[in-house]
Amino acid sequence: MSKLEIAIWVSNLKKCYQNKDVLKDVSFSVPAGTIYALLGSNGAGKTTTIRILTTQMKADSGEMKIEGYNVSKQPQKVHEVIRLTGQFSAVDEVLTGKENLIIMGRLCHLPNPEKRADELLDYFELSVSANQIVSTYSGGMKRKLDIAMSLVGNPKVIFLDEPTTGLDPQSRHSMWKIIKELNRAGVTIFLTTQYLEEAEQLADKIAILDKGVIIAEGTPEELKSYLPQGVIQFLFEDRETLEKAKSLMGDYKTSSIPKEYKLTVVTDGKADTLAQIFSRFYQNKVSIHTFSQLTPNLEDAFLTMIAEREEENQWRSS
Ligand SMILES: Nc1ncnc2c1ncn2[C@@H]1O[C@H](COP(=O)(O)OP(=O)(O)OP(=O)(O)O)[C@@H](O)[C@H]1O
Ligand SMILES: [Mg+2]
Repeated sequence: MSKLEIAIWVSNLKKCYQNKDVLKDVSFSVPAGTIYALLGSNGAGKTTTIRILTTQMKADSGEMKIEGYNVSKQPQKVHEVIRLTGQFSAVDEVLTGKENLIIMGRLCHLPNPEKRADELLDYFELSVSANQIVSTYSGGMKRKLDIAMSLVGNPKVIFLDEPTTGLDPQSRHSMWKIIKELNRAGVTIFLTTQYLEEAEQLADKIAILDKGVIIAEGTPEELKSYLPQGVIQFLFEDRETLEKAKSLMGDYKTSSIPKEYKLTVVTDGKADTLAQIFSRFYQNKVSIHTFSQLTPNLEDAFLTMIAEREEENQWRSS
């Protein structure tokens, strides 16, 4: 893929606030026309990344390009191709929805700001409330207006900082629909979220940011495949059988819930391995009540990766 087809390119980005490393050597790239999600918990560094990429804050070091423009050296050019919808709403509550859009249109030097405002109100199904002041809007309507504001100047790249935090499930789904539609219209979308489900629903690629470091990156499927695939859960008739089964598992990694007579065994998922486990049970007269194969979800992947990193850090510092 040529450099021009990369919408966002970040290399070795570092930022420290008052001696605290908030972003530690972050690198990634986002192909044009795709949705990229930066997933992380509170304080991971998501908003800081967005603020730096949208030129509101300077990086300590690193190189960043948006649509080929250097973020530190060509901020004006970057402004022409991007829009940002922040974690906290930027709309003016005492103006109407339409007035907000018209002002934004003027700031973007559009020839006909009113026409663009009407188009966007229509697109976001806000026409009926166009002339009401924004303080009377619901949370979901405000978010829609926020996104509409960011679309006024037909940007190529949109940054959405936690676009659905605090929305009810219905408004969240309608926001997902809007984000997907924008992307279908060719806009590259960079979003941050604390919700795995949101990243999984929307993103072509997800990066997991933990304490300023990208600890994993990939498609939702790739992230899930980091986890062992052959996790089997056995259910036994009683505790005694469970304990016996557990003692037969030798080198396999296991965990059990004694009260529920459940044993979980991590295998490599190969048929030979499974056959070997079953035959050990059979030869030792351990009867299995039921068994099932567990499918890892993204949440497991996320938690496992964070836990592994914590263990590693403890090991390093000890
Ligand atoms: N202006 C500032 N001065 C000092 N520290 C800051 C400043 N802004 C952010 N931080 C710290 O930087 C870290 C990352 O903050 P950031 O806002 O980027 O996180 P976030 O991933 O967006 O979190 P959230 O999900 O809560 O929005 C946090 O530890 C935060 O306390
Ligand atoms: Mg934030």
